[in-house]
Amino acid sequence: MKVVEIQSAFGIENLAMAERPQPRPKDGEILLRMKAASLNYRDLMTVQGMYNPKQPLPLIPCSDGVGEVIEIGEGVARVKVGDRVATAFFQGWLSGEPTMDTVVTTLGGPLDGTLTEYMVLKEDGVVHVPGHLNDTQAATLPCAALTAWNALAIQGNVKPGHTVLVQGTGGVALFAIQFSKLLGATVIAISSSDAKLERAREIGADHGINYKSIPRWGKTARDLTGGAGVDHIIELGGAGTLQESLQGIRIGGQISLIGVLAGPAKELNILPILMRNVRVQGIFVGNREAFEAMNRAIAFHKLQPVVDRIFPLDQVTDAFQLMARGGHFGKICVSF
Ligand SMILES: NC(=O)c1ccc[n+]([C@@H]2O[C@H](COP(=O)([O-])OP(=O)(O)OC[C@H]3O[C@@H](n4cnc5c(N)ncnc54)[C@H](OP(=O)(O)O)[C@@H]3O)[C@@H](O)[C@H]2O)c1
Repeated sequence: MKVVEIQSAFGIENLAMAERPQPRPKDGEILLRMKAASLNYRDLMTVQGMYNPKQPLPLIPCSDGVGEVIEIGEGVARVKVGDRVATAFFQGWLSGEPTMDTVVTTLGGPLDGTLTEYMVLKEDGVVHVPGHLNDTQAATLPCAALTAWNALAIQGNVKPGHTVLVQGTGGVALFAIQFSKLLGATVIAISSSDAKLERAREIGADHGINYKSIPRWGKTARDLTGGAGVDHIIELGGAGTLQESLQGIRIGGQISLIGVLAGPAKELNILPILMRNVRVQGIFVGNREAFEAMNRAIAFHKLQPVVDRIFPLDQVTDAFQLMARGGHFGKICVSF
């Protein structure tokens, strides 16, 4: 079978097509014929050797994919041949709190990922996908969508009438805009591009702030709420944007700390966190139970994920380069 591998060296330019023997499912396992995959920023960092420089190679990158079950091992009961399923980001975190053991069961590093024609997984490591989505749309769900859902609907307790600020217009951000609207919130989107802000409005953002032309966007966001501050911030910039987020958050609001697009470390004045009673909640994707709950909401609302571009498997290098230059709006996908 054809796979994409990071072989002996990291770097987008070193991604290579390779042949591996097609695996067969053992007891409790299933064989998927992969239909589509999607890229996350983590996959880009993995390919560049920035996520885990000690990751043993070769590695098949990417955590997210959708496939058809074409064979099942002895004792499999959760899925049947012909089912269409998505990969779970954490193969071993099924419900409850994460543990040291379950958070290391991630696809696309350390475990081989989804850029492969066939894939064997434990039956526990997949979920059925909403029927109204095509394969590429469904392949956007395992990481980006679940992270936004976990932050807003599970750990954020966002309610109708709340205001949510979302950073950027990438994969997590656009799901965060869409889920915030489902939950009845007002959305403030920030982006480096006025054109992208216009498109963000089309999928539901109520306000847009260009963070390049308005670097003090935290105050602008606060002003948009009449001075009280926003209830919830989807923090994707990380250390480089957190100070500004602390300007925009309301007393008692939640900052869901998800990304590091503007850097993982920086000197920071933490006083506003305590003076304003702010809850800073780290988010690491989510468990399978949350994935299934999210899928029910997506199916009920017939939510349409935003797919920017779809690349064939043998052009995956172009897909990673598009992500690296931030040229996308929503999800970059791969079809098989
Ligand atoms: N903790 C977790 O479980 C988890 C899960 C998923 C993702 N993440 C992290 O979340 C971040 C986003 O991931 P993704 O896959 O959605 O990435 P993505 O699709 O590549 O989105 C990147 C977008 O973020 C925006 N951006 C870049 N720098 C920014 C800044 N300084 N301030 C505000 N926005 C900025 C840009 O949007 P504009 O062009 O509109 O400015 C860029 O296009 C990454 O750091 C990723 O590692 C974490």
